[in-house]
Order: sequence, then structure tokens, then C-alpha cells
Amino acid sequence: MGKKLLSEKFYSAMTTLESRYPSKVALLLPALHAAQDEFGWLSPEILEEVGDFIGIHPAQVREVASFYTMYNLKPVGKYHLKVCTNVACCLRGSEELVQHCEKKFGIQVGETTRDKKFTLVEEECLGACGTAPAMMLNDDYHENLTVSKLDQLLDHLE
Ligand code: FES
Repeated sequence: MGKKLLSEKFYSAMTTLESRYPSKVALLLPALHAAQDEFGWLSPEILEEVGDFIGIHPAQVREVASFYTMYNLKPVGKYHLKVCTNVACCLRGSEELVQHCEKKFGIQVGETTRDKKFTLVEEECLGACGTAPAMMLNDDYHENLTVSKLDQLLDHLE
């Protein structure tokens, strides 16, 4: 493979972690996480590089990455909205939040706005059922959401 895309920081973090894990394969999830932190998503080239590092085929890396919704296999916008539509959130109006976002951004679930600012996805339970409906905006939780709270939040984003 050609020039490495992942940083020195990535490789040194992985070397540190390696000593704490039973095998290199066990590093796969943290490696994907760290790689996504660097690029915002996991391109085929990055999956290949992670596979090279771990010593497994890129197809296996992709299979694992596609199993978990937290890994982005497509580029995402600056703001990544993950609206939970599982039972508790659904009962408390998450569908309305999703529809509101679709209309506001002019996109469907799974899409990114043309200016690359917003990506909208539906998410399985975020573990915040007691304060449903819940959403993650990048790495932050927003709970007890209503359409107007959501608007307030979105309208203040740069
Ligand atoms: S169902 Fe939405 S956070 Fe659990």
C-alpha cells in the first residue's frame, strides 16, 4: 500500500494500547474509533490501512465497521444528528423530530446537506430512554427534545 494516511499519533496510541490487549485483533474497535476521530469517517483507504495494521483483510474490517452504527462509512457533515427512533423515543415524538429535520434541511434520513453542514440519521437506543426523545449531535447528548428545542439548538450552530 502507498503512503500512510493515519497519523503518527494514531500509530503511537495503538502501540501503547497494544500492550494492554490480549491480541492485535482486539484492537480493531479502538483503532476504528481513533481513525474516525482523525477523518470524521472511514474511507476504503482507511479501512485498508487499519486492516494492514491489525493484520486482517480490509473486507473483514469493513464487515465489523458496518455492524456498528457509530462508524461512518460515508462522509458526514460538520454536524451529525443521530436521532433515536427506538421505542421510548418513538412514543415521545422522535418521528416528528426526524420529519422536522428532513423538511428543514431538505434531505432524507441517511443523507447530508449539499453544503456538508448536516447529516441526519436514525439511531437505535442511545441509552437515554428515561429522558426520551434523545438525539446525539456529534458527541453530545440532547434529551427531552421537542421540535422547538431542536430548532433553538440548530439555529445557534455556526
Ligand atoms: S429508546 Fe431512545 S434512548 Fe432509548
